[in-house]
Amino acid sequence: MSSNPTNRESFGSKFGIIAATAGSAVGLGNIWRYPYITGENGGAAFIFIYLAIVLVIGIPVMLSEFTIGRRSQLNVFGAFKKLAPGKPWYLIGVMGVAAAFMILAFYTVVAGWTLEYLYQSAINGFKGKSAAELTSMFNSFTGSSFRPLLWYFIFMGFTAAIVMAGVKGGIEKSTKIMMPLLFALLIVLIVRSLFLPGAEKGLSFLFKPDFSKITTSTFLLALGQAFFSLSIGMGTLITYGSYIPKKDNLATTAVSVVITDTLVAVLAGMAIFPAVFAFGIEPASGEGLAFITIPNIFQQMTGGMFFSVAFFILLALAALTSTISVLEVIVAFFVEELKLKRSFATWIATLSVSVLGVFCVLSTSSLAGFKIAGLTIFGLMEFTTANILLPLGGLLIVIFIAWFYGRQNTLNELTNDGTIKARYIPVFMFVIKFIAPLAIAFIFLKGIGIIKI
Ligand code: PHE
Repeated sequence: MSSNPTNRESFGSKFGIIAATAGSAVGLGNIWRYPYITGENGGAAFIFIYLAIVLVIGIPVMLSEFTIGRRSQLNVFGAFKKLAPGKPWYLIGVMGVAAAFMILAFYTVVAGWTLEYLYQSAINGFKGKSAAELTSMFNSFTGSSFRPLLWYFIFMGFTAAIVMAGVKGGIEKSTKIMMPLLFALLIVLIVRSLFLPGAEKGLSFLFKPDFSKITTSTFLLALGQAFFSLSIGMGTLITYGSYIPKKDNLATTAVSVVITDTLVAVLAGMAIFPAVFAFGIEPASGEGLAFITIPNIFQQMTGGMFFSVAFFILLALAALTSTISVLEVIVAFFVEELKLKRSFATWIATLSVSVLGVFCVLSTSSLAGFKIAGLTIFGLMEFTTANILLPLGGLLIVIFIAWFYGRQNTLNELTNDGTIKARYIPVFMFVIKFIAPLAIAFIFLKGIGIIKI
């Protein structure tokens, strides 16, 4: 029975572990958010800060999550119940499952948009359209209800189908195909972009170090981006960590995942900005970049239809390898805590997330006027997770490991019970005891507006 931890599924190979985990990390955040933030916030200077943050905070939080997951061999809620019986730490698990519901609900909306745009690319739907027409095309699509809902459910369907097929047969198997494909598409797009006349202006937008743009808020921005991008703070990596075989070296896995995630973010910038500048377009951020600027470039480019299809497949794949990891958090919880069968758990999770998802889809159309605290439901889900639940979860996770679970237990897990070395442990413990909690507490307080700088 799948609820029995000893018969639990696990990932089958090192490559599978990395494909699945890096798949969770590499997502929409890498492709449309990171490149733009980098360009706007000091180029190489920002990349440098981001790297320092993922090194000092990202890797330790990730490693803490892996430790909790692999030691407990359980879902995010069960993990804390098992490692800290009778203590309220399981509330981190409750928060994680709640965050998974919320993230999946809004993230899948945008993931669905990528399918509409893939379809439009395939029928050459951007051809001959001006920037204004592309803008109104995007607004009228997101302002309608039927098609965004349809694509939302289709995307959810893909996500559910993979999760239902299990950890090894669904998640690992599919990410082992999707991640290499994602890399291949990215390389194709980079080569095309770099060979455009004027490409170097894009590279200089992206990479030219400008230390004058670095302020305290740059650090906070980089930290927030690192959390969302690395999928840390809500137990995705506790859940995936619980599927990592006992003989795997958790530290090298964490480092590989972080390197992959950062590399994809930087490469995405190298695919996008040379083309943006070569066509003399003002770079936009977020949705505007992916759904207006990019179609605008492709429709002017020779062979644009092909590259446009490649780009939207890339976005859809990046999103899918992330949505499955979020759904898995909920499904693992339902299977192990509520003793449901995986297929039934997947159905229940998918349908219940979709109730919230429908509200998120309609946030750009019929419910656009419906606001809570000045935000649409979509905006509220995004704000609450990115600015509150992930940092708070990350903070509590490192505090749990550093101050409650303790050095010896952690060392046992990280050395695979003494069979491999973990010479980094003193540094790791120091960071998760002091540096990471302080830094995270800072972005958290800033995110909810208590600290104003
Ligand atoms: N890391 C994903 C991205 O960058 C998003 C994500 C966040 C996935 C949290 C899982 C958990 O797009």
